[in-house]
Amino acid sequence: MKRFCLLAALLLTALAPSLAREVKKTVIAVETENSALVLLVQENGQVFNLHYGTRVGDAQQFLPMAVDSDDYNTASGLAYPATGGRFIGEPALHVKYADGTHNTELYYSGHSIEPRLGCITTSIRLDDPVTGLQVNLVYDAYQKENVIVTHSEIVNGGGRPVQLLNYASGALYLDADEYLLTHFHGAWAADMQLEHEWLGHDMKVIESRRGTQATQGNNPSFLLSLGTREFRENEGEVIAGALAWSGNFRLCFEQDAGHRLSVLAGISPFASAYPLAAGDTFVTPDFIYTWSDQGAGGASRNLHRWARKYSVYGGGEINPTLLNSWEGAYFNFTTETLLRMMDDAAGMGLEMFVLDDGWFGNDYPRNGDNAGLGDWEPNAQKLPEGIDYLARYAHRKGLKFGIWIEPEMANPQSNLAQAHPDWVVQSPGRDIYQGRNQWVLDLSNPEVEDFVFGIFDRTMQLAPHIDYIKWDCNRVIQSFGSPYLGAEQDRFYVEYTQGLYNVMRRIRDKYPKVIVQCCSSGGGRVDYGALRYCNEVWTSDNTDALSRVFIQYATNLIYPACVMGSHVSTVPNHQTGNVTPLKFRFDLACSGRLGMELQPKTLSAEERTLADRCISSYKQYRDLVFSGNVYRLASPYDGSYYGLMYVSEDKSRAVVFTYCIHYEPRNVGGKSFKLRGLDPSRTYRVTEQNVNRSCWWGNGQSFSGQFLSSGAFNPVLPQLYSSAVFLLEAE
Ligand code: GLA
Repeated sequence: MKRFCLLAALLLTALAPSLAREVKKTVIAVETENSALVLLVQENGQVFNLHYGTRVGDAQQFLPMAVDSDDYNTASGLAYPATGGRFIGEPALHVKYADGTHNTELYYSGHSIEPRLGCITTSIRLDDPVTGLQVNLVYDAYQKENVIVTHSEIVNGGGRPVQLLNYASGALYLDADEYLLTHFHGAWAADMQLEHEWLGHDMKVIESRRGTQATQGNNPSFLLSLGTREFRENEGEVIAGALAWSGNFRLCFEQDAGHRLSVLAGISPFASAYPLAAGDTFVTPDFIYTWSDQGAGGASRNLHRWARKYSVYGGGEINPTLLNSWEGAYFNFTTETLLRMMDDAAGMGLEMFVLDDGWFGNDYPRNGDNAGLGDWEPNAQKLPEGIDYLARYAHRKGLKFGIWIEPEMANPQSNLAQAHPDWVVQSPGRDIYQGRNQWVLDLSNPEVEDFVFGIFDRTMQLAPHIDYIKWDCNRVIQSFGSPYLGAEQDRFYVEYTQGLYNVMRRIRDKYPKVIVQCCSSGGGRVDYGALRYCNEVWTSDNTDALSRVFIQYATNLIYPACVMGSHVSTVPNHQTGNVTPLKFRFDLACSGRLGMELQPKTLSAEERTLADRCISSYKQYRDLVFSGNVYRLASPYDGSYYGLMYVSEDKSRAVVFTYCIHYEPRNVGGKSFKLRGLDPSRTYRVTEQNVNRSCWWGNGQSFSGQFLSSGAFNPVLPQLYSSAVFLLEAE
């Protein structure tokens, strides 16, 4: 018997590669209107990434090309590199089999191309003839948007369980002389800090191991400027990419001696050797990427167009302006406080009131961040009339009504934590660490999933019509562990995020219309995974307009402006202590989804007039912010000014935002901005918003798009925090 097995194994080993070599050399082109990803199936069945970038005409011209065919090759550039065979680099796939072996060799066994509306899906099937493992590489090529979205389906076609040690969503292989990597790091109230890095030949890894709040440290996105050490906004080849996953992630950039760059994006394998039973399939999250020869601006516009149309929940719709109660009231409010805030919100022309933290908990009232999380019934002492009363009042005032929840968490001081200690993320016999006095609930447990869904569901029933939910998540996972998963802790991080998405899916099935803001101590969940279910994000807990210039500039490199919650708050700013003029705060907040987050009664009459004016003018042009194409005119990282504009798809209207963020000598005249994205042959009337006296000599007049793009547009922004907003309308 033993001898037979050995013989069979030898036979298989001998046969497998020859079976795999019997395929016809084939070129597979995944193309969009302006870009192409070209893959080559070699005669031995290995599939390689040949090209990603500009379209190449007939991709079949690549057919005679040979890849890594000699005895010294290391199989660099495989479309989905797996540990095993000749490949010795960082793998997209690394599998440990039941017999303890680690080798996988994937060979082509067919592909299909399926055109859909606006998108062509190419699926390539790869098989390991020895282990039975199978991978389907799926590429969705969004034609007009020039975006490719790829994911992998890993099927355990062998008869025994395996462990996935690496399971990236996809791999790119690029060929340029050099690469400038742009990525985003951060911390609480310092989200999305931009960093440029020229890539050397060592491996660069960008990772999150935070479990929840995965994006507050690093964001799962990047830009790569090709063939340059310079970040170029308007020209040159740039690839922008993002992973649609709200949990631990990992991006790897590895340059070989021939200056080719391998890019891998996927779930972080940290503590997550994922067990895959025989016959089971693991579907990775989406890796989204785009190529442009119009610099970072072109890459952003591609991603944004795709996101608004195909990815962000409710993308393309306008989310209402709002007053949020947090910085204006914190935990200290009564019904009366909130009613007066609603009066003020309605008076200023805002469209929604959002009741933030502090409204719930009776046995453990939520009067601070130390108690109540988990007990989601309205606090009868603070709000004896209930939520229904507040929502009805808002609606009578013509306002929509929104409310805050943080359903994944529990304070130890809550009925929930006492009733269900086993629902809390924890490791047996160890301390359960707190952050902001709270614990994380174990969303890898389906019972907890139900509970979390129930919180949302019950909150929606607190009033006949709740229009908006702010979903918060204020804690990372530390000392991880799931009582539910027992000995299978390797599943925890992946299944937590899957559990979160299961809940979100159920929410969307039942409540397709409710607007959901995804917040996680500010920008801890700014990713395309969460945005599939959420209409917008709370961009950062830092509401200082100067800090927001940098945060919003960077966020908007990857994510469209329609998702950026952007609020006017009081001064001195509660996070930074900075004092900025109200107009600067408004002008900046108006470049995203405008809101306010202060106690309106503290505004002077003059400030109220300005607020009314800014809110009303925003409503005239916000469709451009929500669905226009962004052109960045000046980077705050490069000098004293920040400038950006949004142009309608038909180029008939645009809004231009300009800001001074650092004092410049006055005798140099205004700052010249070259407007972009306009039709050079059309004439645009330029109207500055929110001022009696304009800071630009051409205000109120009409100019050709060509003239405005020449540098003649030079508003005078003489002081630190001078700012100006202009509406351009074609005649
Ligand atoms: C987090 C959010 C804030 C606010 C508070 C409430 O910090 O980011 O916007 O909702 O929680 O506790």
